[in-house]
Parts: sequence; structure tokens; C-alpha cells
Amino acid sequence: MQVIILENKEQVAIEAADIIKAAILAKPDLVLGLATGSSPLGLYQKLIDANQNKEMSFRDVKTVNLDEYIGLEKTHDQSYAYFMRKQLFDQIDIQLSNTHIPSGMADDLQAEATRYEALLDELQVDLQLLGIGSNAHIGFNEPGTSFTKLTHVTDLAKETLEANARFFDTIDAVPTQAITMGIASILKAKRIVLIATGESKAQAIRCMVQGPVSETCPASVLQNHPKVLVIVDKEAASAL
Ligand code: GLP
Repeated sequence: MQVIILENKEQVAIEAADIIKAAILAKPDLVLGLATGSSPLGLYQKLIDANQNKEMSFRDVKTVNLDEYIGLEKTHDQSYAYFMRKQLFDQIDIQLSNTHIPSGMADDLQAEATRYEALLDELQVDLQLLGIGSNAHIGFNEPGTSFTKLTHVTDLAKETLEANARFFDTIDAVPTQAITMGIASILKAKRIVLIATGESKAQAIRCMVQGPVSETCPASVLQNHPKVLVIVDKEAASAL
């Protein structure tokens, strides 16, 4: 695991965007794993700018998202499907048919999880972007989740409900379940780039980088992957 510590959030966004741009230039039909949350917003804006300036194209890029809430329609403004269209897909030249997000509205969620995992195996993610929760979750793999899990339905941890309540009118409106790539799904990616900024992530970054590999700190499993780059600002690195 390689760790790059930068001055601030803006530098993290620039560095991560440069890596993704270079990967797409090297392989125009890159399979890119994407994340939601506030962490990737700056980086997505840089990718939008690069695409609009004709520096690179997403025409043949395929994307797979990590996760989605259970029970929110794609049109709900807090669904991850809506987030991705608004924050990235609708502003770049990607073909929407090449973008994939698990459905949290499927009648049979187990079948949806199986379908999504088969899709990941078929596409084979070249580069997976990750954020990290303050409890060190990746995707929606909360502390205690088995490292052997593939795409599955999960209950969200209390800290996650509290952290995500800021996007909803009340905490009771936050969905309590999600469908997420499992840890074993995430580890199939050929290369992983994790970004984090701010002091609220400092303990999570510490257990991920320095802690023992343990299911109590889900992101620590990344120590076992051969090609992981962690890009953080000084605040997120402050407990290292
Ligand atoms: C969410 C997402 C994660 C994300 C994390 C951090 O719950 N499921 O994929 O990395 O929490 O979010 P943020 O970047 O807003 O801190």
C-alpha cells in the first residue's frame, strides 16, 4: 500500500483525477469502479473539466459503482444512481448504457446481488476508486463484515446512518440497508485508489494503514491487495 499525503482537499482531487485521466488515456475502454459520498466530488469535477476541454473521452469507458441504498428510486435525489448522473455522467460523454449501479429497488435483491457480481466478473475492474467511512467502511462494508463477502445486502451501521443523515430531512429518512460490492468483490479490482480528506477520517486511515488486518477495520484488508494507492490530505493523515 502506497500512501501519498498532500496539503489539502484540492490537491487530493487533482492527484486522483490525474491518475484516472492517465488510465483512460492509456486504455480508452477502461473499466472504472466508482464511489459516491462527498470525497470524490472535487475529483469528478476535474474529470468533467478534462472531458469538456477535450483532453480525454469517456466514450468507451465502462463504470461500475460500489453500492446503492435499498428502497430509493433512481430518481430520488439521495439515490446513488441520481448522484452519479448529476455529479458526473450527465456532464461527460459517457454512454449511460456503459454505466452500472446495483439496483436497490429490485424485487429479488439476492438475485440482483448475484447478477451484479457476475457483471463484475465479466467486466473485470481495472481501477477502483474508493472513499472511506469514519468507521473505516469501504463501499457499505461495515465493521464486522466478513472479508469473503461478494455483492450483498447489508444493514448500515449506526455511525453511517448518523453520518449520512446530513443529506436527508431527518435521520429516520435515511435508508437502513444497502446493496454493496463485498470486500472480496472490491479486492478483485486490478488497481485501487482510495481518497480521504479531513480529520474525521484520521482514525480510519490509521487503522487502514497501520492497524492489523481485521474485520473490525474493513479498509485494513487493502493491505493484502498488491496495488493500492491511498491519497489523503494532512488532516486525514494526522493520526499516522
Ligand atoms: C458512504 C459510501 C462510501 C463512502 C463513504 C464516505 O456511506 N457508501 O462509499 O466512501 O460513505 O463518504 P464521504 O466521502 O461523504 O465521507
